[in-house]
Amino acid sequence: METIKLKDLTFKPYIRREEISSAIKHVAKQINKDLADKSPLFLCVLNGAFVFAADLFREIEIPDAEITFIRMKSYIGTHSTGEVQMISGLHEDISGRTVVIVEDIVDTGFTLLQLKEMLQECNPAEIKVATLLFKPDSLKYDVTIDYVALDIPQAFIVGYGLDYDELGRNLKDIYIVQE
Ligand code: IMP
Repeated sequence: METIKLKDLTFKPYIRREEISSAIKHVAKQINKDLADKSPLFLCVLNGAFVFAADLFREIEIPDAEITFIRMKSYIGTHSTGEVQMISGLHEDISGRTVVIVEDIVDTGFTLLQLKEMLQECNPAEIKVATLLFKPDSLKYDVTIDYVALDIPQAFIVGYGLDYDELGRNLKDIYIVQE
């Protein structure tokens, strides 16, 4: 695989689609086991998590599983703005329900913390978190992540739904920025 250029940055191949796929299957297996007797509502955090959510949700074998979508934004370019906006909100009643937040990546944990606080106000029975990628060295906030598909170092990545200024989401593999 070759390097790719998005705007001013060059990215090199980092995690191949086969590895992503088997990591997702592994996470789905755990969720299928843990939440087998629940009626979980998967909450896909747009835009970045749409590819992961589509692949994860098709591996979920819980008959009463549902999925819905919200839209958040915190990054501009390669940096967090330190401010999270919910651009499109939640229309379902989540009181008394098991909610599984589906995130593309947890970096500082700020977005996740804000989202969890917003959801808590609606009195769900429990909130679980599933993320495709986790940067453990970047974490700054005290948030519990229940399911992590892949741990990655503190570097900027794109592909498989993740973007650099909205570009790169369509890449089938994950690419890392070249220093
Ligand atoms: P946090 O609030 O710092 O945890 O950042 C979470 C959000 O920032 C994610 O949902 C992504 O939209 C974005 N983000 C963080 N790291 C990256 C990255 O390496 N590539 C693309 N987007 C990222």
